[in-house]
Amino acid sequence: MNKLALYCRPGFEKECAAEITEKAAAREVFGFARVKENSGYVLFECYQPEEADKLARELPFRELIFARQMLVVGELLKDLPVDDRVSPIVGMLVGVVQGAGELRVEVPDTNDAKELTKFCRKLTVPLRAGMREQNVMAQRENPHRPVVHVFFIAPGCCYVGYSYSNNNSPFYMGIPRLKFPSDAPSRSTLKLEEAFHVFIPADEWDERLASGMHAVDLGACPGGWTYQLVQRSMMVHAVDNGPMAPSLMETGQVTHYKADGFRFEPPRNNIYWLVCDMVEKPAKVAQLMTDWLVKGWCREAIFNLKLPMKKRYEEVSQNLQAIKEQLDENGINSEIHAKQLYHDREEVTVHVRRMWSAVPGRRDER
Ligand SMILES: C[S@@+](CC[C@H](N)C(=O)[O-])C[C@H]1O[C@@H](n2cnc3c(N)ncnc32)[C@H](O)[C@@H]1O
Repeated sequence: MNKLALYCRPGFEKECAAEITEKAAAREVFGFARVKENSGYVLFECYQPEEADKLARELPFRELIFARQMLVVGELLKDLPVDDRVSPIVGMLVGVVQGAGELRVEVPDTNDAKELTKFCRKLTVPLRAGMREQNVMAQRENPHRPVVHVFFIAPGCCYVGYSYSNNNSPFYMGIPRLKFPSDAPSRSTLKLEEAFHVFIPADEWDERLASGMHAVDLGACPGGWTYQLVQRSMMVHAVDNGPMAPSLMETGQVTHYKADGFRFEPPRNNIYWLVCDMVEKPAKVAQLMTDWLVKGWCREAIFNLKLPMKKRYEEVSQNLQAIKEQLDENGINSEIHAKQLYHDREEVTVHVRRMWSAVPGRRDER
């Protein structure tokens, strides 16, 4: 198996392809990406055998911006016989994968493919049994073993492969299933919730999304992001000229500032979180976030970079690079990650965390 399949948001295949080509080459893995517009996935075919496996193991999945999932796959299986679909699929994996801990029968995130999901659900049970018989899968589910993926792109037509559980998305189809809270003031609340799931490890939520923390939300109205912070029992300084949802103001945890987010300064010196969903040029937002982090006005930031332009991968890369360079120049060690989340449309979400600062008086460890 010498191909890497990457799931992505339909319409962002070119970005996903440009990214994998560049990041694989940086690890001296060369190949070419096959792109079919609006298909919801990209195939990166490596020139050397075994190199797709090397990428699946070594290219950190969390560093990929446009990929929702990354797996090694073989040739496309076509015209699966209606009376026995299981044998050819299991046959692809015998000798390749042993003792996998989970099976995901998946489809691209497109309207056409959605019609296949019912069929996928039905196929899962006999497939799992077939894989267990051949020891492709372990007898029990195991979150620490590789995941087998069967990826149907059309009826009777699938890629078969695997991902590593320590370097993949833990979610089916790479999409966390979040329920829209009926009392949230806007659907964008799910963007921030998803960002928490993707960027903050579950066992660190209590420390890094702690009750009583102070947060600033720039471009807060009507309050979907503020809602998430309020749910975590934080005190929120919400900045926007528009109206905030009265239900949020009634909690007593929100102070509303009718002000320009680009001029607003923190009202106190213990702001932990800065979040920002203002619709503005990516470079302007990135610079504002960098300024806050360099001045030590917040410890962690989550923000959106809106991407209405054509060269979206280049735009994101340049902005991330600019943030990193400025933080480095100021002696600030940081973690920077960006992801196009499921709930993101023409945008990506960025997370930056100040780890420590080399400048005296700016030690950040808690
Ligand atoms: C996409 S909406 C934010 C939605 C919000 N995150 C939510 O979940 O409800 C963008 C908001 O940014 C605000 N905005 C745009 N430019 C701004 C600026 N310079 N200062 C403050 N707010 C701004 C707009 O008024 C708008 O309410």
